[in-house]
Amino acid sequence: MVIVDKITKTYNNRKVLDNLSIKINDEEIITIIGKSGIGKSVLLKTIIGLVKPEKGRVIIDDLPLEGKNIYLLRKKIGFVFQKSALIESLNIGDNIGLALKFVQNIDPETIKGKVIDALAKVELKPDVMELFPSNMSGGMLKRAAIARAIVLNPKYILYDEPTTGLDPIVSRTIEDLIVNLNKDLHITSVIVTHDLNSAIGISDRIAMLSDGKITFLGNTESFVNSKNGDIMEFRNSYYLKTGE
Ligand SMILES: Nc1ncnc2c1ncn2[C@@H]1O[C@H](COP(=O)(O)OP(=O)(O)OP(=O)(O)O)[C@@H](O)[C@H]1O
Ligand SMILES: [Mg+2]
Repeated sequence: MVIVDKITKTYNNRKVLDNLSIKINDEEIITIIGKSGIGKSVLLKTIIGLVKPEKGRVIIDDLPLEGKNIYLLRKKIGFVFQKSALIESLNIGDNIGLALKFVQNIDPETIKGKVIDALAKVELKPDVMELFPSNMSGGMLKRAAIARAIVLNPKYILYDEPTTGLDPIVSRTIEDLIVNLNKDLHITSVIVTHDLNSAIGISDRIAMLSDGKITFLGNTESFVNSKNGDIMEFRNSYYLKTGE
């Protein structure tokens, strides 16, 4: 379980996260929504220790994310960045294998086997290892980024806008993949997205981030029926934009 406990993070005198608390349960898919620039990525980065809050703490599986624990706990967490963040000069095999090289002291053949396993889990064939990021479609890049996140067998995966920029059909396949990884590998999944339909389609719970705080947290049914002002505004503008 991840406990985000009264976190405050300020940038340029603005409390982007303001005494924010949230608990993430094991094996759930929880989606965080909120306006652009509100602090969703900052929240994800705080959960993995890339952003240090001024106040509050993050506790993962009963250990505070501090000092030596950070190294230990990070191994439990895969991160799929907003931009897939693959290294352009490395092929996909090396991109995925890099984490293993640094974290575990293992030989190249074992690394290759693990990379092939990770690719299989995201439904990519072994020959994708030879491709470079610049030669891959958006959907394949996302899959490769997810493979890189799962190669260390994480308990948690944080996905920052995993479907942004993908067409609806490819988006759906990525959503299916996230759900399958959650079910088959028991991966607790935290997703940040602008895509309300996707959030409603795949989440166990949805959280709304607004003014530095979680202003709504509930299952998809309570989200759909919520009269909370932030949610209504978000829903209305979303359906206005998508014409649904
Ligand atoms: N390293 C940083 N230095 C200064 N300000 C930052 C930094 N990181 C984030 N911020 C600010 O914090 C706020 C929240 O940023 P964040 O990237 O979390 O937004 P977001 O909700 O993920 O937005 P989007 O939906 O557009 O990705 C923004 O105003 C941003 O400028
Ligand atoms: Mg963001």
